[in-house]
Amino acid sequence: MSGKQTGIVLGSGLGLLAEAVEVEREVAFADAGLPVSTVPGHAGRFVFGKLGGAAVVLMQGRVHLYEGYSPQQVTAGVRWLAANGVSQIILTNAAGSLNPHFAPGSWMLLTDHLNLTSASPLLGPEFVDLTAAYDPRWRAGIRAVAAAQGIELHEGVYAGVRGPHYETPAEIRMLRRLGVDAVGMSTVLETIQARALGLRVAGFSCITNWAAGIAPSALDHHEVLAVSRHAAQAMVRLLLACGDWSPDAG
Ligand code: HPA
Repeated sequence: MSGKQTGIVLGSGLGLLAEAVEVEREVAFADAGLPVSTVPGHAGRFVFGKLGGAAVVLMQGRVHLYEGYSPQQVTAGVRWLAANGVSQIILTNAAGSLNPHFAPGSWMLLTDHLNLTSASPLLGPEFVDLTAAYDPRWRAGIRAVAAAQGIELHEGVYAGVRGPHYETPAEIRMLRRLGVDAVGMSTVLETIQARALGLRVAGFSCITNWAAGIAPSALDHHEVLAVSRHAAQAMVRLLLACGDWSPDAG
């Protein structure tokens, strides 16, 4: 393995990204010894191929804590990617917005996170530094490409919760006070695992809805999927424009 492949973990409704990949081979989660997700909108496979000029491995169909999987099972895909030639990883997710400027349909690049799952994928004395968990140089490069492409890309703090219920308005008010811009049910454990393995990490939230209590409407998983399917088009354009994500490129 070259060690220069970019892993891309696809969040809810973002399977469209797989259609932009020139597929070389696929590995089903079951054949990789990984658990399979039960959530609608999540297939369970790795897809090796090219996205624009870049060698990528997509992970389609992550599993979540709320399905009853352990933190180690939730992050098994990240360890598999690292063992199969991936040196940097893009984690995507669907998230609710707490920031009045981050409307549904737009994207947020993660600057940092709050792990509110009370869990860690790490066992034993692994004191991983998370000061710059979401690589600042990589983020600067992504921001520049998004600006050149006219793609709206916010930046902010993601809170990872366990779910599967959505939050209450009181919980959302608390999270706003804690400096959270977007909330979702994935990503934080994968980031911790990836940093523990020395992978470079970028994280994107697809803003699919206003968080509870911010807009009058109730939250609905089908709407989350519909919005992220549409917003996936902008992410495809962004990733194609980013070209070769060589690990040393800004
Ligand atoms: N809360 C938690 N997870 C989510 C949301 C939300 O509002 N939207 C998409 N995933």
